[in-house]
Amino acid sequence: MMIIREFTPADLKRVFEIENMSFNQSYGIDMFKSLYDMGTGFLVAEIDGYVIGSIIFWRKYENQGQIISRAVEKNYRRLKAGTRLLSKAIQVLMMFDIANIYLEVNENNTGAYEFYKGFNFRVDRLVPNYYQNHDGAIVMYLPIIRSG
Ligand SMILES: CC(C)(COP(=O)(O)OP(=O)(O)OC[C@H]1O[C@@H](n2cnc3c(N)ncnc32)[C@H](O)[C@@H]1OP(=O)(O)O)[C@@H](O)C(=O)NCCC(=O)NCCS
Repeated sequence: MMIIREFTPADLKRVFEIENMSFNQSYGIDMFKSLYDMGTGFLVAEIDGYVIGSIIFWRKYENQGQIISRAVEKNYRRLKAGTRLLSKAIQVLMMFDIANIYLEVNENNTGAYEFYKGFNFRVDRLVPNYYQNHDGAIVMYLPIIRSG
């Protein structure tokens, strides 16, 4: 059974491992610890007690949320873990009075791009040479629409 829960420091090594397997350029393990210590939103997805993915997010500005990092281990993709992690992050950010949620996607990461499109994220702009290997980033945002 898959569950989404709060990250704890005991998950640090595993989260770093998944991140490292997923990206050429990844945050260091100390960075994850610092983000957690800073009080960012930090959730993990686990299946039968085994962590398979994570998401880190925060309220970057008064009216703007940001997804800092997210990854699901390759063998466990297309099982909706990413959907559940992102849905929960959006739900938490929506408790604050924010207008948009931003994130960056590598321009060559069509899978992730499609994933965010499915969440109605829109393209804001392209940033050439964003990553260390000179790949560009697509900056995407989700306008928060509140009813009532
Ligand atoms: C992007 C990522 C987080 C998606 O996680 P996931 O758990 O596999 O996603 P889900 O199972 O919730 O997918 C939901 C929908 O998104 C779309 N989607 C997800 N991966 C896709 C892919 N590789 N190609 C096309 N569409 C994709 C599909 O519409 C999918 O629904 P479906 O499986 O019913 O067709 C995951 O692929 C990942 O970790 N990638 C590597 C790291 C990364 O790129 N992170 C984002 C950095 S920008």
